[in-house]
Amino acid sequence: MSILKGAAVIGQSGGPSSVINASAYGAIKTALESDAITRVFGMCNGIKGILEDNLMDMSKEDPEELAFMKYTPSSALGSCRYKLKDPDEDETDYIRILEIFKKYDIRYFFYNGGNDSMDTCNKISKFMLRNGYECRCMGIPKTIDNDLAGTDHCPGFASAAKYIATSVMEVYRDSTVYDTGMITIIECMGRHAGWLTAAAALANYKGRGADLIYLPEVDFDLAKFTAKVKEIYAAKKKCLVVVSEGIHDKDGTFIAEYANKNMAKDSFGHAQLGGLAAYLANYIKGETGAKVRGIELSLLQRCAAHCASQTDIDESFMAGEAAVVNAVNGITDKMVGFEREYVNGQYKCNVKLFDLTIVANTEKKVPLEWINKDGDGVEQGFIDYCLPLIQGQTKLTYVDGLPRFVELKKVKAEA
Ligand code: F6P
Repeated sequence: MSILKGAAVIGQSGGPSSVINASAYGAIKTALESDAITRVFGMCNGIKGILEDNLMDMSKEDPEELAFMKYTPSSALGSCRYKLKDPDEDETDYIRILEIFKKYDIRYFFYNGGNDSMDTCNKISKFMLRNGYECRCMGIPKTIDNDLAGTDHCPGFASAAKYIATSVMEVYRDSTVYDTGMITIIECMGRHAGWLTAAAALANYKGRGADLIYLPEVDFDLAKFTAKVKEIYAAKKKCLVVVSEGIHDKDGTFIAEYANKNMAKDSFGHAQLGGLAAYLANYIKGETGAKVRGIELSLLQRCAAHCASQTDIDESFMAGEAAVVNAVNGITDKMVGFEREYVNGQYKCNVKLFDLTIVANTEKKVPLEWINKDGDGVEQGFIDYCLPLIQGQTKLTYVDGLPRFVELKKVKAEA
């Protein structure tokens, strides 16, 4: 194999996570240390940074400061939700990307994100292949939604899952203190996949958790839900419910849309969900007259670096590192993913490569056998799957009792 010499560019895209920077750091550090890679650039706000010729020179960062990326939440390079058009319809963006690649002699392209970002990575990869421009394109997975195809799990999921499980355990304690009774409804992210919401079941596994858990894999019936809540509340004077933002009725209408008919959409056509906990709380209050609280975990669940899983942090770093190592070794057009193995009963995570064509835009759902037959709870299979991923507490540095996060200089790159 001939060594491909040239610059590398790394971008982050889509909704962030508390460990996405661990992956970016894995890629940046490995690229800075590589003999084949001549320069390392960061994209300001994902692919928009390339389109707008807005790259940062990562070699200008202090290596010790850069290392704080591993424990800093959210996309330190900046993110975007920008859909590249089908190149058969409009090549404008691709021509511009190629122009910028040539300008900086970019031969390595790393894109860190979820389904939509893998779509971007796949399109760029295929365009470069078709146009004979030698450039190794690798996807580095990230999504709290855990819905990328192929891979056993996605960087970012476990930390958000750990936060949700912890929060449900804590809220359980708070929501049961009064003798006057209370109904609490917690809303988790995850769009069309229920992985994150299912993580609430880890609280039940520890003995005190949600009475009802609803995932988008199963149609939601408001009347059935109301009857269940009334029954539990009548018996226990409390009811704790965890719902996924993406639950929908049998016609496919999001329950969140019952409250907001004109939901904003991003450039990939995804509705900006949210507001479900408040809607359901209000509805259930009307039906029961009970004291009801709706809690939307919203951004808290995906930037809770203080509650991140060290396993997730280490695996995220490994994904970024593996993308660079594989690309330098001649691999292109792949996404780095994970495969789990049990060695003497111990969980082990191995890197596995997946075709970008397969992962782009495919959503992996929670298997139905991990959801109970009433569609309002989660089975042991999910607990067994999830537990190894949330092990270990983050080694975040604290200064003055507060977390120490990275501060990048973001020096603009010159050609
Ligand atoms: O990218 C995943 C995700 O966090 C989803 O769980 C959520 O629905 C969505 O992003 C929110 O997107 P935004 O940050 O654009 O509001």
